[in-house]
Amino acid sequence: MSKYRNIVWFLKAMQEYTRGGYETASKHFVVKDLSADLGGRSFMITGANSGIGKATAMAIAKKGGTVHMVCRNKERAESAREDIVKESGNNNVHVHILDLSESRKVWEFTEDFKSKHSSLNVLINNAGSMVNIREVNFEGFEKNFAINTLGVYILTKGLIPLLEKSSEPRVITVSSGGMLVQKLRIIDLQTEKRPFDSTMVYAQNKRQQVVMTEEWAQAYPKIHFSVMHPGWADTPAVAKAIPDFYERLRSRLRSPEQGADTVIWLAISPAAARMPSGKFFQDRKMVPVHLPLAWTRYSREKARALMVRLEALAKRAQPSAGRSQLNCPIVDISGGPQDCIKKAA
Ligand SMILES: NC(=O)c1ccc[n+]([C@@H]2O[C@H](COP(=O)([O-])OP(=O)(O)OC[C@H]3O[C@@H](n4cnc5c(N)ncnc54)[C@H](OP(=O)(O)O)[C@@H]3O)[C@@H](O)[C@H]2O)c1
Repeated sequence: MSKYRNIVWFLKAMQEYTRGGYETASKHFVVKDLSADLGGRSFMITGANSGIGKATAMAIAKKGGTVHMVCRNKERAESAREDIVKESGNNNVHVHILDLSESRKVWEFTEDFKSKHSSLNVLINNAGSMVNIREVNFEGFEKNFAINTLGVYILTKGLIPLLEKSSEPRVITVSSGGMLVQKLRIIDLQTEKRPFDSTMVYAQNKRQQVVMTEEWAQAYPKIHFSVMHPGWADTPAVAKAIPDFYERLRSRLRSPEQGADTVIWLAISPAAARMPSGKFFQDRKMVPVHLPLAWTRYSREKARALMVRLEALAKRAQPSAGRSQLNCPIVDISGGPQDCIKKAA
């Protein structure tokens, strides 16, 4: 089945995810969708120093929005900020340093941000990476999971109270079409029991982002959630994580601006806000989260079980969690971590 999924997916990807796919899709874009004046609205963008995140930050700054760039490297962040301010003429561009793989620091960041800002209109979970060997962070979480899944979970959960009291709040998460080849997994989240294949771990994390978005849309109706695939864009992440793919397809990749188009559309256009919350998008269109006949469908119970697991794992990393909680093993059966947390409390 996974072979069938991979073949169907690759044929679809070559048609839709490339620069040619963007050019075809963009013939149907409504130009005035992006004509909003963003003065007075604030946008937090993770990974805003490079690729799709930087292109998004630039477009928003040009339209007068306040931009909060959340980046892990101060030098790269400041240099990108300089470019954005210079090209947009907008000084309301702020740098925050945070490595999303450091789970406890993500909690600390959300608390600090909430204490300093009275509103946040849009959160864009763009940062993502594919770490090719299995590494764990301070809390014992596998790094791809910590960045792409738990980092997004903690940042979003932490900021929801602020988003909820801001006007017309939205959350956009940059996933990947690669998630279509993955069936949702709620056990072995740290990839300890199966061979470590970073491409599949990344794709699984991206599937989990889709599920988180669907579940948040149900749980927080005041906020408009969406998740999207940017297509295949020429960015440092692609060149570094999958160099063979990059070399072979380089001439057919989208520009970072083309990759960012749907992120921006979801973040600012009234047309996107009229779409139902919790959906998956590609080239400004709502698209299915499963390939035909691919056996990747999951029940609502399974999706909820993932959220329970993530909540328990996120709590381990909370600054208020005691040391004993951090020392609990990351048990991969449902109920394990909660039991440990109860004992530690
Ligand atoms: N490009 C594509 O074809 C493609 C396809 C599907 C999905 N995506 C998704 O698009 C998003 C943006 O990626 P991109 O292609 O634009 O690549 P990129 O140019 O390399 O940007 C990735 C950004 O994420 C940041 N980042 C990575 N790990 C981080 C961490 N632990 N903490 C904080 N920031 C971190 C990077 O920071 P540094 O600059 O410091 O490394 C960079 O700013 C990712 O979520 C990626 O999975 C991209």
